[in-house]
Amino acid sequence: MLNTHLKLLESKLDRENLRKLAAIANDRLHAFVADAIELCRPDAVWVSTDSAEDIEHTRQMALRLREETPLGTRGHTIHFDGMEDQGRDREVTKYLVPKADMLSKALNQIERETGLVEVCGLLKGSMKGRTMVVRFMTLGPNNSEFNIPCVECTDSWYVSHSLNLLYRLGYEECKRLGEKAQFFATLHSCGKVDERMVSSEPDKKRIYIDYTTDTVYSVNTQYAGNTVGLKKLALRLTIRKADREGWLAEHMFLSGVHGKGGRKTYLAGAFPSACGKTSTAMLPGETILGDDIAYFRAVGGKCMAANAEAGIFGIIQNVNAKDDPVIRDVLTRPGEVIFSNVLVKDGRPYWLGMGEEPPADGENFSGVWHKGKKDTKGTEIPCAHKNARYAVALRALKNCDPELDNPAGVELAGIMYGGRDAKAYVPVQQSFDWEHGIVAYGASLETETTFATIGKEGVPEINLMSIQDFVAISLGKYIRNNLEFGKKLKNPPIVFGVNYFLKDRDGKFVNGVSDKHVWVKWMEQRVHNEIGHVRTPTGSIPCFEDLQRLFKEVLDKDYSREDYLKQFTIRVLENLAKLDRVEKFHRENVDDAPIELFAVLDSQRERLLEAQFRFGDMIAPDCFLHDDGKR
Ligand code: GTP
Ligand code: MN
Repeated sequence: MLNTHLKLLESKLDRENLRKLAAIANDRLHAFVADAIELCRPDAVWVSTDSAEDIEHTRQMALRLREETPLGTRGHTIHFDGMEDQGRDREVTKYLVPKADMLSKALNQIERETGLVEVCGLLKGSMKGRTMVVRFMTLGPNNSEFNIPCVECTDSWYVSHSLNLLYRLGYEECKRLGEKAQFFATLHSCGKVDERMVSSEPDKKRIYIDYTTDTVYSVNTQYAGNTVGLKKLALRLTIRKADREGWLAEHMFLSGVHGKGGRKTYLAGAFPSACGKTSTAMLPGETILGDDIAYFRAVGGKCMAANAEAGIFGIIQNVNAKDDPVIRDVLTRPGEVIFSNVLVKDGRPYWLGMGEEPPADGENFSGVWHKGKKDTKGTEIPCAHKNARYAVALRALKNCDPELDNPAGVELAGIMYGGRDAKAYVPVQQSFDWEHGIVAYGASLETETTFATIGKEGVPEINLMSIQDFVAISLGKYIRNNLEFGKKLKNPPIVFGVNYFLKDRDGKFVNGVSDKHVWVKWMEQRVHNEIGHVRTPTGSIPCFEDLQRLFKEVLDKDYSREDYLKQFTIRVLENLAKLDRVEKFHRENVDDAPIELFAVLDSQRERLLEAQFRFGDMIAPDCFLHDDGKR
């Protein structure tokens, strides 16, 4: 017998689509789709299964409706987002918070009822004249404890196409789970679009997250970071779910790093947007398991990790043959790739920092473009947007890790935290223990805002664990969950701090882009306890001789003592100032910061002051003890 929602759906869907939807026996799902139709009023509804035919239909429709245009290389397409829709929009992304509830001050929020009225008002009738696409995808490997089923209703074939590339298909999984599927739901509409098929009312852009019903609303936007509900929007819901269930959902890449005797060691890394996740996960010769969102579970005392996603939505700026040969290769070979917001001329994509002079005209996110073209404020429009991106399935990559879909995940050996810290932290260091790492590197992570979010660039801020934008529980609870998680593990992953963006007095980066490969190999050997270290007040740093050997082995470069001094001298004043900022942030913004956090910060301050007393404000690594006790 049909349930009431299905009866309603019967009048809105044709037989074939009704059959597809009814095959998933889940009341809440049927209610969600029925409500979405009632609210958005699409002309038609199309339900996608996992069949090759349905997957291809989405791709074809994105092209037919000109949400994407084919490029010269087989499988490549281009999609444009509006001028004011070029990144995640923090201002208009809010949690819907019930009256009795309260999230940390640092999190953007709106009273739930008020927010719902507002966003539903904007979604009302928004799909008239268009088709609503109903998609079933999953987060985490299928048939696994990690798995979370998701449904997204959207009127964008580009969003549907992106889902194909970035996530695992979930129609069959949802059918299997039926009433047991506790899915995350997203309702998205582009709103009014102009003749270029671009959302034309950016002032009415809203992205609201209702954690009381695990539902995301997104309207008047197309940028995938705002519209593909499974990405950072679902991450916010996942963090709450993980909090309830005792595991962790993190903003991290996952990579298999090769070491001695053919072994492979899995490392994870948290970096704020545009600070190094994808570029670290795509190091030549290593494998990529994920580049953005990782789930951790403690299983039998081991930290098991899985990628929530199955594809990359990566930044294309500065991808060139020298710095990112692996990504560059993917973007120049035939295969399914969606480019967004690059410059297109004669069917070829061009981007900033590609190592080639772009043409002086073409089509880009501003429409027909020529060099010198200005926006309405009189600012010159670059040939491509800094946050131009590509979407590609991980399976399409030669370096994709074979364990991507392993339901058990992989055992994690190390975690790194890094941001754009121009002044204080050394390029790589190892924490003294789990707690020190979580607090001194994770919860103390400072970075500068980047082009990946809309707003001013280069503004220093604390972005704890690189995940602050997405933490939908109190920040203090989130930190505590991380601290507690380590206690469930026999050998918790070693926690490292990295900083690819340290600068010298003249404002120049002290490292090259490929140096991160050396840090990663150093971490791999540290995890296996094969090499020594130098103990400094902020953490254990590499010995010069190990780096000299690794730079030669990994990059065929001669590493000098001068470089070592420049990169690894402990800047005491900068580090003390950093501690003050971090402590202030936690005292003011984190209502329930764990007391251990302040204890770890205090000890770090004491170590720095003691070292300063003995050696001064700038302390060369040679002043500190090597782990064999020799000076
Ligand atoms: P999201 O995908 O937005 O979450 O960002 P991400 O963390 O994956 O950042 P990604 O690895 O794509 O790097 C973003 C930017 O940082 C690019 O413009 C890179 O060129 C730049 N970048 C990456 N590594 C380095 C480095 O070692 N040094 C410097 N100076 N820039 C780097
Ligand atoms: Mn990335």
